[in-house]
Order: sequence, then C-alpha cells, then structure tokens
Amino acid sequence: MTVHHLMLFLHVLGVTVWVGGMAFAWGCLRPAAMQLPPAQRLPLWAASFSRFFPLVWAAVALIALSGIFMLLETGFARAPRAWHAMLLTGAVMMGVFASIWFGPWVRLQRAVRVEDWASGAVALNAIRQRVAFNLALGVVTIAVATLGLGL
Ligand code: HEM
Repeated sequence: MTVHHLMLFLHVLGVTVWVGGMAFAWGCLRPAAMQLPPAQRLPLWAASFSRFFPLVWAAVALIALSGIFMLLETGFARAPRAWHAMLLTGAVMMGVFASIWFGPWVRLQRAVRVEDWASGAVALNAIRQRVAFNLALGVVTIAVATLGLGL
C-alpha cells in the first residue's frame, strides 16, 4: 500500500459519506417525512441535519486534503483534465454546502427553537434545493472521476 492508495481510500470514504448521505436524505427520508405535520417534520429534519452536517464537514476536509495531495503528487500542469474538472466541481459543491451551513441551516434551527413552522418550511425548502443540486453535481463528479466523460 502506498501513500497514494491511502489518500485515495480517504478520498472515496469522504465521497461515500457525503454523497451517500445526501442520497438517503433526498430519496428516503424526504418522502417518508413528507407524511408528518410541520411540528414533527421540521424538528426531525433539524435533528437529522445536526448529526449529518458535522459529518459532511469532516468529509469535505478529507476529500479536499486527499484530493489536493494526489493532484500535487502528479503536478498541476501534468494532471489529466478530468482531475482539474473534479477540483472545480468539488469546490462548487463545498461552496454550496457552506452556503447551506451559514444560511438556511441557521434559519431552520432558529425556526425550530421558536416553533415558527412557516419560516422553518421556507428554510428547509432552500436546504432541499441545494442538497438536490449537490447530489446531482456529486454524481457528475463521480462520473468525471471514473469515466473521464471525454475530458
Ligand atoms: C477538492 C476537490 C477535489 C480534488 C482536488 C480531487 C482530486 C482527485 C484526484 C487527484 C484523484 C486521484 C485519481 C487517480 O488516482 O486516478 C481523485 C479520485 C477520485 N475522486 Fe476526487 N477530487 C476532488 C473532489 C472530489 C469530489 C467532490 C468527488 C465526488 C463527489 C470526487 C470523486 C472522486 C472519485 C470517485 C475518485 C476515484 C477515481 C478512481 O480511482 O478511478 N472527488 N480525486
């Protein structure tokens, strides 16, 4: 096992937690939670995200550090275009996650604390849209990383 293999392992582990967690939230928890009234649905989401989002920060750190390490091993100029594309789409995904953390996530937590379900629903909707975007971009990034997609 080389350092490169270890970095690749940490990289893919981070990707699995992040993209897998988003797939579960969007494809499984969202349709199941839709059956609940807002007074139960919004606290359920807040409790789920309060566990998932710190894991995403850890995944972001793992993915970025290992990805940049592997990129620098080869050298920026010699790296395949697919890797440059991954750096770009990965950076966009991280920016979108930061925008959730500092924006609608703060508003959702406040709304749940004061039981303002109308504002909570607006904040949750913004999170849902951004998670859907990141999930789609995550799948595209995995396709770029593994298939190259002509890059
Ligand atoms: C800071 C951003 C990122 C950088 C600099 C980066 C860079 C890299 C590099 C250099 C490799 C090694 C490729 C190889 O050895 O063949 C790699 C592999 C990989 N990356 Fe990224 N990456 C980033 C973000 C992401 C994201 C956000 C995802 C998915 C959502 C992702 C998915 C993958 C996958 C699945 C592989 C394994 C590809 C394979 O071994 O065939 N990366 N990445």
